[in-house]
Amino acid sequence: MDKPSVYVTRMIPEATIEALRQRFDVDVNPEDRALTSEELKQKVKGRHAIVSLITDTIDGALLDAAGPQCKIVANYAVGYNNFDLVAATKRNVILTNTPGVLDDATATHTFALLLATARRIGEAERYVRAGLWKGWSPMAFVGLDVDHKVLGIAGLGRIGKNVARKAAGFSMKIIYSDVQRDPEFEAAFKATYVDKAALLRESDYLSLHLPLTPETKHYISASELKQMKKTAVLINASRGPVVDEKALVEALRANVIFGAGLDVFEAEPLLEPGLAALDNVVIVPHIASATAETRLKMGEIAARNVINVLSGLPPDTCVNPDVLKVTAG
Ligand code: DGY
Repeated sequence: MDKPSVYVTRMIPEATIEALRQRFDVDVNPEDRALTSEELKQKVKGRHAIVSLITDTIDGALLDAAGPQCKIVANYAVGYNNFDLVAATKRNVILTNTPGVLDDATATHTFALLLATARRIGEAERYVRAGLWKGWSPMAFVGLDVDHKVLGIAGLGRIGKNVARKAAGFSMKIIYSDVQRDPEFEAAFKATYVDKAALLRESDYLSLHLPLTPETKHYISASELKQMKKTAVLINASRGPVVDEKALVEALRANVIFGAGLDVFEAEPLLEPGLAALDNVVIVPHIASATAETRLKMGEIAARNVINVLSGLPPDTCVNPDVLKVTAG
């Protein structure tokens, strides 16, 4: 009997591909770019499983192009706003993500952005590289303290909590906002639960860890930026559209806040015009989970999910669990 067929939409660690190759016929997009949705539709035709990235839109049209034999789409990411959950569930397709293994890498990166923005690292490095440095200066690149400041966390999931753990090393005071309180977290971190208005008003550093949903789109826009301290720093390592990037560019240009550290953008890889010209923003290309160790672990989860589902077992990390009731029945 022919082996099941798996399509991997972009090169991921070889070990992941190898684990899949031991059991399945595996094709990998050889190009270092995301495929267009038309290209993707062609490539997934007849596949039993797809390993996708956040840059691939997995909707009803794509799943119909794949065909009814397709049992699982395993995202190589913890975020899954590229999935149409309803369309997949309707078609009995299991969707999975890679939670848990990238919390440390993402929280560390969040802190790297926070420190780089507070201490103006990007701007100072560009200055030295440009040959402009003439010697030590008491007034050059004066930034902000981090120790003992107030860290506001919007969205207290695994990554938000991990950021709080790292902030403890800087003796930061934690405030947080979420749809629900977490008394255990409050006790462990001496953290205070606040509403959005207080989060905006009181944070010296505001770090966003919200999933992208219709409710969180533009969670930070012009009116929110105006409520923040003039000395505040905004950090976004969640999803770009959580911040209204146009409003942020205007606010940074007018020094409404001190600065921003951004890993994610509204229309990646495009940046809002004017953003890259600003010195009070640190911008990096969506690399929060990009460590060799983390990317391997993400691959292990994605491969295990595909192997389980194609062997008739439930996946470890399903994001549309309703489908399991049907596929188990
Ligand atoms: C994710 O996992 O959701 C990141 O954005 C990419 O690693």
